[in-house]
Amino acid sequence: MARKDMPPKPRDPSWRARHALGHKRHQSADAYSRADSRAAERAARGERADDAVEATIVLGIETSCDETCAAIVRADRRVLASRVRGQADAHARYGGVVPEIAARAHVEHIDRLVAEALDEAGLGFDALDAVAATAGPGLIGGVMVGLMTGKAIAAVAGVPLIAVNHLEGHALTARLTDDVAFPYLLLLVSGGHCQLLAVEGVGRYTRLGTTYDDAVGEAYDKTAKLLGLGFPGGPAVERAALAGDATRFKLPRPLKGRPGCDFSFSGLKTAVRHAVETLGAGRLAAQDVADLCASFQAAVADVLADRVANAFALFGERFPAGDVLVVAGGVAANQALRARLGTVAEAHGFVLVAPPPELCTDNAAMIAWAGIERLALGLTDALDAPPRGRWPLDPDAPPATGAGIKA
Ligand SMILES: Nc1ncnc2c1ncn2[C@@H]1O[C@H](COP(=O)(O)OP(=O)(O)OP(=O)(O)O)[C@@H](O)[C@H]1O
Ligand SMILES: [Mg+2]
Repeated sequence: MARKDMPPKPRDPSWRARHALGHKRHQSADAYSRADSRAAERAARGERADDAVEATIVLGIETSCDETCAAIVRADRRVLASRVRGQADAHARYGGVVPEIAARAHVEHIDRLVAEALDEAGLGFDALDAVAATAGPGLIGGVMVGLMTGKAIAAVAGVPLIAVNHLEGHALTARLTDDVAFPYLLLLVSGGHCQLLAVEGVGRYTRLGTTYDDAVGEAYDKTAKLLGLGFPGGPAVERAALAGDATRFKLPRPLKGRPGCDFSFSGLKTAVRHAVETLGAGRLAAQDVADLCASFQAAVADVLADRVANAFALFGERFPAGDVLVVAGGVAANQALRARLGTVAEAHGFVLVAPPPELCTDNAAMIAWAGIERLALGLTDALDAPPRGRWPLDPDAPPATGAGIKA
């Protein structure tokens, strides 16, 4: 893994020079010569080296959970196309994602989504400089579908493959949308993760805190299931909470006030279940549901605010000049939580950067962007890159052991 920041933009127009920084040469010679000839064509058209770097185009593929996604992104931060096909209907009756159903749906739809993304961008395979596909962590069947598709397209187009860590996709999205500079503090809140990380560069993450048990998105989904709000639960709980009284139910704030910045959500989930049982499961009025959602969301907001406040101190010890908090992952789409995090950040002299909601939940634009960042550092992968069920961003951190934790 490269241990350096993004390099300055190279001046040499040749493709090899553009991507030769810390180079890992895994691709076939053919792939490189075709890419070189495209760079030569661009140079012949009078494009400057910087133009060529900015014009780098990457196809992203994402299939690690229950969204089949394809996107085309340019290095100048233009998202030329981003297609997302959710599978919520297929999983709704089970109240959660069924891995085999998800993998089969990815097989069925990924080719069409890639074709639609290319159509929308008005491009063919010949315009691609690389293919970036999620290689983990996630549901292994789905990861295999997207990664195999990416490998096949990379081989046919004769361009490098980048095997992307899905979490790095989330982690770097704020650089696609807001050009955030390293280092920054990252709160990653998604269906499988709840972590605080110091982000020093591409591939350079230090985990400051993580959950002992459930991820925060999982707590939203389980709360929604208990309240009969369907799947996925996050957006439904957020909507219902708008009409609710957040003070009606006294729910716990696990780990609030304790040192460090780890999380725990299983006690909160159990407290919601007890409240539902007390009211009488199946006999909840719409107002009960709204009040429970609002009370639950207030507890989550209090916990996140408390943990992030401690993380500012830990992050500040390492990076005294760092002043950006990035929130990413599906739960970062929640407007109430974003507002609360913005307030906490401001109180501690930090600025909150939250990508637009459609780039918080799973998408392939973030995977293409992570590919662009890695390509610029010469970090490409061999066509035998393995799919990975677990893949922590900080390999030196002790493994998280909670149920459902993927890294
Ligand atoms: N508005 C919202 N409020 C709260 N939670 C939300 C909202 N929108 C989505 N979520 C939650 O975000 C999660 C999905 O996020 P994401 O797609 O990033 O997860 P994932 O890819 O399954 O997990 P991971 O990224 O950890 O592998 C779900 O748990 C969903 O309920
Ligand atoms: Mg995700």
